[in-house]
Amino acid sequence: MAKLWAGRTDGTTDRIADDFNSSIRVDQRMYKEDITGSIAHARMLKRQGIIPASATDHIVAGLEGILKDLESGALEIDETAEDIHMFVEEVLTARIGDEGKMLHTARSRNDQVALDTRLYLLNQSKEIRQKILTFIEVLNTSAKTYKDTILPGYTHLQRAQPIMFGHHLLAYANMLVRDYDRLKDCEKRMAVSPIGACALAGTTYPTDRDYEASLLGLPSVSLNSLDAVSDRDFCLELLSACSILMMHLSRFSEELILWSSWEFGFIELSDAYTTGSSIMPQKKNPDMAELIRGKSGRVYGDLMSLLTTMKGLPLAYNKDMQEDKEPVFDAVDTVKMCLDVITPMIETMKVKQENMRSAAQRGFINATDLADYLVTKGMPFRQAYKISGALVARCIETNQILETLPLAEYKAVSDVFEDDLYQAVDLDQAANRRTSKGGTSAQSVDMQTEWFDQLISRLKEDNK
Ligand code: ARG
Repeated sequence: MAKLWAGRTDGTTDRIADDFNSSIRVDQRMYKEDITGSIAHARMLKRQGIIPASATDHIVAGLEGILKDLESGALEIDETAEDIHMFVEEVLTARIGDEGKMLHTARSRNDQVALDTRLYLLNQSKEIRQKILTFIEVLNTSAKTYKDTILPGYTHLQRAQPIMFGHHLLAYANMLVRDYDRLKDCEKRMAVSPIGACALAGTTYPTDRDYEASLLGLPSVSLNSLDAVSDRDFCLELLSACSILMMHLSRFSEELILWSSWEFGFIELSDAYTTGSSIMPQKKNPDMAELIRGKSGRVYGDLMSLLTTMKGLPLAYNKDMQEDKEPVFDAVDTVKMCLDVITPMIETMKVKQENMRSAAQRGFINATDLADYLVTKGMPFRQAYKISGALVARCIETNQILETLPLAEYKAVSDVFEDDLYQAVDLDQAANRRTSKGGTSAQSVDMQTEWFDQLISRLKEDNK
């Protein structure tokens, strides 16, 4: 079939080249945005007297019909079309005749594709934010349940100090709040209308770009036509936000994998989110968590792919930029799937509080508290640190723990020690003494969950 752009050339290209050039398999998912954008464009053209009112009415009705038929399945997308923009215009013209050809006045596919992609990604970003919010809510609810569940906190994956499991969960909730904010911030720059920039230089027609943008719910328009059609920062920003989000999900997944091992035994994932082995009957594998961890690499790859595509491109539009959609769509699809899996996985996992506690009782994670105890008795911290270290060594030698090492043994090292030292090294008391703002005490976890309660209801309100 001769191309819409036949003119300078005869419009017949090689079949393999055609297929190579086509993006419809990727961009067909933007059909709704393409049609919405075209309806707004036709209305603007009519209002400005650029095309006759009657033609606009036929165009709008035609486009609405196409949308309806695509949604019902009555109209199928022709995968031999060059892209979704060409497809919609071709069907429109086939359905309403020559008036359909007026639609592409004062625009180009260069500004059209930029608009469609922005509209599509705005919705995707909002969807991702919704999912993040649901996840935050699950974490906050769990944090309330486990606000005083002791487990060892780690540095260098070595047992370090006692913390509350609720506190640990809320660390992730904090990361997710930043992810949420980052997306919201991307959306600000995404919601700038490029339409009306046309091919690259603007147009001689008396268009009203602000009006067209307002029909689309976009609060502002781009102020430089070259930038409008060349810019893919909004894709890159979204990809960066998705990459950071995936990094968080990957770290969380890694902990779930560790925690569900025999070696840790801190949690048990629900059967719904694990698989068995085909040969080892005892196995319960955390496949979903591993996949989330693995898919973070894929999303980073999407970011790298588009950064590399954009690098060194001269202004303005270049066909290279058609390669933008595949990675960015892959990233949003992946992120949404991962959030859909990790959220219920956390919600349904069994927390083995006893195992957490017994791990906390080994590893001398109260040694800092012992040193702090000596400091409260007036000893300089460095000296206190040394004495505590010596006592830990003594315990290891004699297979004892600080909680039950006899007072006489303490006194043998320093006569500052009194009976109250046992309160200092008590795990619950040790964790609960960390009342500094943002610390691990149950009281601090309470404050944090209260803060999250307020945040969640505010964000829910914003999203209505
Ligand atoms: N399918 C193209 C893309 O996704 C649309 C823009 C094409 N413009 C052009 N002049 N060839 O980037």
